[in-house]
Amino acid sequence: MEQNTRSVEGLGIRPGVRGKTGIALVRLPGSSRSSGLERDVRRGFSGPRKQLPPKYFYDARGSLLFERICGTPEYYPTRTESVLLARHARGILDQVAPGTLVEIGSGSSEKTGHFFAACERLGLHVRYQPFDVCDEALRAAAARLRARYAWLDMELLVGDYAVDLPALPYSEGPRLFLFLGGTIGNLNHDEALNFLAALHGAMRAEDFLLLGFDRVKEKAVLDAAYNDAQGFTAQFNLNLLKVLNARLDADFEERHFAHVAFFNEGEGQIEMHLRARRAHEVTMSRIDLVTRFTEGETILTEISRKFTPEGMRALLEAAGFRWRRHEEADNSYFSLALATPA
Ligand code: SAH
Ligand code: AVI
Repeated sequence: MEQNTRSVEGLGIRPGVRGKTGIALVRLPGSSRSSGLERDVRRGFSGPRKQLPPKYFYDARGSLLFERICGTPEYYPTRTESVLLARHARGILDQVAPGTLVEIGSGSSEKTGHFFAACERLGLHVRYQPFDVCDEALRAAAARLRARYAWLDMELLVGDYAVDLPALPYSEGPRLFLFLGGTIGNLNHDEALNFLAALHGAMRAEDFLLLGFDRVKEKAVLDAAYNDAQGFTAQFNLNLLKVLNARLDADFEERHFAHVAFFNEGEGQIEMHLRARRAHEVTMSRIDLVTRFTEGETILTEISRKFTPEGMRALLEAAGFRWRRHEEADNSYFSLALATPA
């Protein structure tokens, strides 16, 4: 499979050169953020309930808004997982003895810093392959990491984790795969199973997976986490309309939509929607599509499933993994699971 490798501009790295502090960027086949957009929009707007996959949130602005969400007092997952990683990074490194860290949906790579700090203390010079659909987020993260960990050899992978796992470039093992932040919850049951099975297929027997997953908890805590008082989650949700306008030459108007997010207790998931404030129609010129909204009709823009440890264990085992270790926050708000291909 042909892969496009090039240097990361602005970081002083020349094409093809990857020394001790080398950073390269590889575009995997699903890397175009617009890849599949027309199909997803046609499919998502044609059924009785409009919906879109959440990967389109993450243009440069969307990724920055997500970082803002992570800093709000209501959004507990990031700081809770960060405490867990700070506490257990050293023990996990001892158990895995990795040559490479591969992080899927790496975003800002902020929390991954706990591993690099622990590696530094241990004199362990791992390689890092962050993998994300948003190349701006990857570049910004690489620049920050390079300034702090000059020894870190990085290969930035731009791609779509729904399709590109079989195309991961080779790296020395054992590899510690990271899928943090509770992002597994943004996939429905079948998508999560397919994702984990593809990941399992891409892993070698010596590799480990560290999965961060958000836990079922009181509705009030969950509702608040997705309705922060500063409105960053609302801006993040509405940013999807800007993305659609830019990529599809569409005429969505933000003022005609409201951010709605709530915990659906029956389904065990947060549902995030954009609700039409009035009946109107939107034209997407680039794909020659007109869609009509009735007042109150919504687009389901994201689900964020919440798990019990038993539920997550069953999911991992159904995908062929063996559950090896579980660490949870003192308040049981968030968990880390360490698994191996059985
Ligand atoms: N792991 C980070 C970021 C979580 S946000 C944390 O815990 O804070 C989810 C990340 O997954 C974003 O950076 C987004 O760009 C990326 N992402 C979303 N859908 C993706 C897809 N289909 N393929 C690859 N990356 C994706
Ligand atoms: C990336 N993902 C785990 C976040 C979540 O909590 O589901 C995305 C998010 N959406 C709204 N706030 C945060």
